[in-house]
Amino acid sequence: MAHDLLNGKKGIIFGALDNRSIAWKVAEMAHQEGARFVLTNTPAAIRMGDIHQLAMKCGNADIIPADGTQVKDLEYLFREAMKRMGGKVDFILHSIGMSMNVRKKRAYSDVDYDFFAKTLDISAISLHKILQTAFKLDAIHEGGSVVSLSYIAAQRTLYGYNDMADAKALLESITRSFGYIYGREKKVRINTISQSPTLTTAGSGVKGMQDLMDFTERMSPLGNADADECAGFCIVLFSDISRKITMQNIFHDGGFSSMGMSLRAMSMYSRSLDCEDCPPVD
Ligand SMILES: NC(=O)c1ccc[n+]([C@@H]2O[C@H](COP(=O)([O-])OP(=O)(O)OC[C@H]3O[C@@H](n4cnc5c(N)ncnc54)[C@H](O)[C@@H]3O)[C@@H](O)[C@H]2O)c1
Repeated sequence: MAHDLLNGKKGIIFGALDNRSIAWKVAEMAHQEGARFVLTNTPAAIRMGDIHQLAMKCGNADIIPADGTQVKDLEYLFREAMKRMGGKVDFILHSIGMSMNVRKKRAYSDVDYDFFAKTLDISAISLHKILQTAFKLDAIHEGGSVVSLSYIAAQRTLYGYNDMADAKALLESITRSFGYIYGREKKVRINTISQSPTLTTAGSGVKGMQDLMDFTERMSPLGNADADECAGFCIVLFSDISRKITMQNIFHDGGFSSMGMSLRAMSMYSRSLDCEDCPPVD
């Protein structure tokens, strides 16, 4: 059910690859909530993915290619988006992540350092590049909102997440550092959402993803948050309802981040626990 939360707002959505992408769900919901936006991704992702399908579903949204690591691409993107939408934007979704070390199954104790640098550039520094470009071009309206997607591996060590953990820690730090400056100078909000593990193209690359999702489902009192629920929360952060929230990393994970051990997880390990109280997990 739509609530017109983004009625009249304009945005840029980075990172919709296919219909499992979190950015895809955000675009669908932003469209339902009355927003107009430009979709963007790398030229390769635009060629290989289904973004044209999404654009059609979203009122023939414009697609402007941009590599999030290339400042020249970003300058073109912002100038062109403002031209096509007739002015500054109100919201930006940064939904970008990639690690060649994860893709090539390099262990964290044996990373390739060129890959490592790329992981940080694509998955974290791209947020700085987007913010700096927007700031210099004065491309975001006062009261605007930038949301990026993080993961709890920024704070806690999770087997298999590799150098993406370092990228997420940097992403959250950039959110605070730029959040101060953009808030002070232009009243623009910048936040990260720390999302539950979610089955997407990027998510499926993480070692043992299905087992991890089973574990977090057992540990979270509200269960894992899915991509649609994440999209709903992005919309709230883009909307005027959250005008005074900035520089935060907000866990959207069904309570996982505050848990130490749950009955449902304990039941997997304990031979003596009477588990009549344990609700079935699947
Ligand atoms: N899936 C999960 O379990 C999960 C959990 C928490 C956070 N996240 C984060 O959510 C975000 C979106 O990932 P997703 O799960 O929807 O997967 P996804 O694979 O659908 O999205 C990742 C996107 O990043 C884009 N991308 C890669 N390199 C880029 C570059 N150089 N410039 C611009 N775009 C580039 C890809 O084309 C793709 O569209 C990522 O930051 C990811 O780390 C995902």
